[in-house]
Amino acid sequence: MVPGPDQTNPGRLVGQLQELLEFQKDWGRQFLPKSVKNQEAALPKGSLHRPYESGAALSRAIVECQNCLLARNRRQAVPGEGPQNSILMFIGEGPGFEEDQQGRPFVGPAGQLLTKMIQAINLTREEVYITNVVKCRPPENRDPFENEVEACRSFLEEEIRLVDPRILVPLGSCAAQTLTRTKKKISDLRGRILDFKNRQLIATYHPAYLLRNPGAKREAWEDLKRVRREYDGLQ
Ligand code: URA
Repeated sequence: MVPGPDQTNPGRLVGQLQELLEFQKDWGRQFLPKSVKNQEAALPKGSLHRPYESGAALSRAIVECQNCLLARNRRQAVPGEGPQNSILMFIGEGPGFEEDQQGRPFVGPAGQLLTKMIQAINLTREEVYITNVVKCRPPENRDPFENEVEACRSFLEEEIRLVDPRILVPLGSCAAQTLTRTKKKISDLRGRILDFKNRQLIATYHPAYLLRNPGAKREAWEDLKRVRREYDGLQ
């Protein structure tokens, strides 16, 4: 996760401000918000509807969402998927190219590895809920900006409230930091059981990271075994 528009690159910052201004105009606003850092100010009022009465209503809202600039470049938004009573919820960062094309989470190369990770603890993809922090693909697969994470946070919280999983497995630093509201590294957040609103939170590495750094798979395997142990303890 990066802390907002890139202020170290003036050319890029100007481009982002222009994009934001156009977005504001679309919503009938005349001026830039006072702080581009606080882009919650840029959200159309009343856009964060909740609570949702069902997973289907939530998915519809996600698919139609225009709450941040990511909506501009997406082919489609990607709601989470899985049984509405899943015990386990895996949470990634945001859709990539394949997910944006298909409208489903974790269907590209990282998704194939996630499927194998789930199978390695004797579960199937169909038995767990899989979602992301942001529901629209960031351009060029960049990390989501903080304001984009915040614009999507209520969707993730609603998914958690409606599915009511007992164990959350954030995959990688974006998801782990978002849920713990810290800036700690994933290597510091993994390897133990944390609490998220009376649920167990067991963070591990993102499968895309594991594809690039196969040496980290041993630690990920330890995390997955911990997930399985806790899962068994709930039965
Ligand atoms: N990476 C993610 O974080 N989520 C996806 O859905 C795919 C790749």
